[in-house]
Amino acid sequence: MTAAYPALRLRRTRASAWSRRMHAETVLTPADLIWPLFIVEGEGVEQPIASLPGVSRWSVDQIVARAREARDLGIPCVALFPYTPAHLRTEDGREALNPDNLMCRATRAIKDAVPEVGVLTDVALDPYTSHGHDGLVDAAGYVVNDTTADLLIHQAVNQARAGADVIAPSDMMDGRIGMIRAALEGEGAHNVQIMSYAAKYASGFYGPFRDAVGSRGLLKGDKKTYQMDAANSEEALREVALDLAEGADSVMVKPGLPYLDIILRVKQRFEVPVFAYQVSGEYAMLEASVAAGAGERDALVLETLMAFKRAGCSGVLTYHAAHAARLLNA
Ligand code: PBG
Repeated sequence: MTAAYPALRLRRTRASAWSRRMHAETVLTPADLIWPLFIVEGEGVEQPIASLPGVSRWSVDQIVARAREARDLGIPCVALFPYTPAHLRTEDGREALNPDNLMCRATRAIKDAVPEVGVLTDVALDPYTSHGHDGLVDAAGYVVNDTTADLLIHQAVNQARAGADVIAPSDMMDGRIGMIRAALEGEGAHNVQIMSYAAKYASGFYGPFRDAVGSRGLLKGDKKTYQMDAANSEEALREVALDLAEGADSVMVKPGLPYLDIILRVKQRFEVPVFAYQVSGEYAMLEASVAAGAGERDALVLETLMAFKRAGCSGVLTYHAAHAARLLNA
């Protein structure tokens, strides 16, 4: 066991491509990718998002085309986020509960046309509120927990009725996973999964996403009273433990690359499926470095995605999903 140089040369197994492939400890495949998509009203519409170069909002018919593309590329699941028109945004975000809102229409359209692709829907009120917060705001500007959770339960049930396969609460209210699970069971939706955004940090990396769903200009203040402090990791383990105890099928860590340590700790401690969200600001940062000539897109995309797998992820939500799948299928 104590061979040393020159008997031991770790470069030997790296000397040729076949051997590097044979010794790879981690594999990345299109099945590891979840593709986030932004939906907008209309037909035949593609609206590019300036702060997310290469990413667009699509009308429902175009979202269905993206879902077909996902299927053809071997991507198992898409994640949907709506751009709610201003006149439907209210203090209480009630459009989230409308069975015919954009989310529900897109979900039904995908499940009708491409049922073999999983649909993951985000539970939180920020795409629907006039103030851009994930929940209800009281007179002092505080996002209140329990009345928000009541609405989120109905939002989740509304999505499940439209055909959502995975309910993904991203709001960070306390106690909502158990309540949503109970409501889904009450609906007979036993096989609708919950992927909780368990360790979601109050991050500077969400800016382009807020442009994409139209909440950036509306948001007053920050989300630090509900999303986690970047200084904390023990707290992330407590969040994960609670969400699992409440019935989450899988957990998410978000953002991605700056929080690989959290992914590793969660995986080692709980041995459950862990997903990462490589968020909008991470995507934009990578694209900016490509635009500046500092790096090469294909290499950066595959290396960062592999890092998530190496840290223990079952999969990654990434705006590069289609591009990465094309590279992996080549
Ligand atoms: C909101 C939500 C956010 C993201 C996913 N769901 C933004 C936020 O919390 O402000 C961010 C995703 C990204 O940046 O790509 N509930």
